[in-house]
Formats: sequence, structure tokens, C-alpha cells
Amino acid sequence: MSAIKCVGILTSGGDAPGMNAAVRAVTRAAIYNGLKVKAIYRGYKGLITDEIEEFKTQNVSNIIGRGGTILKTARCKEFMTPEGRMQAYETIKKHDIDALVCIGGDGSLTGARIFASEFNFPIVGLPGTIDNDLFGTDSTIGYDTALNTIMDAVDKIRDTATSHERLFFIEVMGRDAGFLALNGAIATGCEAAIIPEIATETDQLGELISQGFRKSKNSSIVLVAESPITGGAIAMAERVKNEYPQYDVRVTILGHIQRGGSPSAFDRILASRMGAAAIDALLDDQRNVMIGVENDQIVYVPFNKAIKNDKPINRELLNTLRILSI
Ligand code: F6P
Repeated sequence: MSAIKCVGILTSGGDAPGMNAAVRAVTRAAIYNGLKVKAIYRGYKGLITDEIEEFKTQNVSNIIGRGGTILKTARCKEFMTPEGRMQAYETIKKHDIDALVCIGGDGSLTGARIFASEFNFPIVGLPGTIDNDLFGTDSTIGYDTALNTIMDAVDKIRDTATSHERLFFIEVMGRDAGFLALNGAIATGCEAAIIPEIATETDQLGELISQGFRKSKNSSIVLVAESPITGGAIAMAERVKNEYPQYDVRVTILGHIQRGGSPSAFDRILASRMGAAAIDALLDDQRNVMIGVENDQIVYVPFNKAIKNDKPINRELLNTLRILSI
């Protein structure tokens, strides 16, 4: 018999499409297994300010297709301090919460790892971020939807790029990771992707674009991952404009539109599987792990591994992009 009778659930960090599907899955799987569920609002902040409510199955009705998170979310500075975490622990005890399921990205799971080890408290994490930058899972919740949003936007920009015969630099999110930029570029037939994992020189890029224009192309689109390393789309466009003044260059920053919208079928299914697996993991005495899916199998990834920030870019994809952009 597991000692866990009551599970707290929260979403933290940047919202991601599919977080609601995960909240639904955790809630329903917990209740199915005879556990109580306490919903914590505004991420770790709600643990400090005591914004907690018991959830029944009907609290999560009709949310599987909704973007954002019904639990709200925050990036909580107080939780980074020992005093803040102590306050959070007091709230957890007050509400008789025996374990937590935390849904969020890199920063949120780092917070979970610290809290779990400080208070020897059981936590299971779910990877909820559009960035796909957590190690140990093929995909994070929200990544597929964001990729589709990018695809839609770039397809539309392609229409105007072709009509005006322009060179576009389009900036996508990803914090310090190039998964959205690289896969977005392949999905939309872009000429190149500028990602933080791979250094790209302006002359290399300029040559590639010139080659395209010399042949049959009358427009080009380059996806740029936001990042201090790439400098983002504005910096890249400036450099290319200076060296290749013959091009009519434009920049679009897609921004927070990438985090919104109804989750794709892929994300809804991923979130549902991962949410149910989080409860299985807790009942199975798993502690301080993130749920991942690798090769279609649920896996448990220790927090330290998941957040080490070294999920590799698949170099075969880079090569494919290069070959197909001639
Ligand atoms: O981590 C998700 C993410 O959307 C990143 O891609 C981006 O760098 C960051 O969040 C933006 O955060 P905020 O909404 O706080 O500006």
C-alpha cells in the first residue's frame, strides 16, 4: 500500500498547449486510484500564497482541448529562496498533500528537484514546454502544437515573401534550444535554420542564399532561434543586409502566438499518457523523476538528467535541411 493519499498538482513556467490535458489526466488518474487531488494555482507561487482547492473529476471536464492552463502559471522568484520553499512546505503540510506532480519546463523541474531533496518530498515532473529542451523524452507537452503554429505562420509569410521576392528572417522561440527552429524550417521548406547549437557565419548563410537566388528561387526564408548566441532574427538580418545590400530583407518575430491555441492530437495524447503515468509512478514509489516518452514507451528520467540542458540536436535533420534547400 502506498503512503500517498493526496496529490497536489501545479503548472509552472511558460504555459504550453496540452498542459490542461495533463492536469485532466493527473486528476482523473489520481481519483481513479482512490487519491485526493489538490489543485495549486499559479505554480510554486500558489504554494507560498496558499491558493489551493480540491479538484473532483468535473473540475477538469472539457479542458482537454483548451490552450493555456486553467491552473494559471508563474515564474516564482520567492521559490528560489530557502525561506520561500519553507513557506511552500508549510502550506503543503497544512493541506495534507503527500506528493506533488509539477508540470513545466527546465526551470520548473529544477525548482522541483531542489524542493524534493530539501524536504525529502515525493515529486514527479511532467515535461510541459514548447521548447522541447528536456533530456530523456522525445517530445515535451506543447512542442508539437507550437511547431504546427510555426508551420502555419511561416506558410503564410511564404506567400508574401514570394510575391515581393524578399528574404525573410523569422524568429521563433526555444530559449536556448533550436528544436523549434530546425524542425520548423524542415516543415516549411526554409532555406536555413540558425540555431544556438551550431555556429553559423554570415558569409556561409549569404552564400547559401545567393546560390538559391542565382538558381530559380525568388524568395528565401530563414528561421532563427531566439537566443543570445544566434542574436535572434534582427541581429542576423542586420548582418546579412550589410553584406548583401541587394536583398530586400524583412524580419518577423512570431513571439507568444507560439504558446497559444488548442493542443494538437499528438500533444493531447502525450499529455494524457504522461499524466496517467505520473500517478502510476507515485504509486510505484518512484521519486524525483520526470515522465518521458522515448520510442513510444513511458520512461522515468531522474530530474538531474532531464534538466542538464544537454538534449542533443539530431544532426541528420540539419543535413536533410541543407540537402533539401538547394
Ligand atoms: O520556455 C518557454 C518560452 O516560451 C521560451 O521559448 C521563451 O524563451 C520564454 O518561454 C519566454 O518567456 P516569457 O513568456 O516569460 O517571456
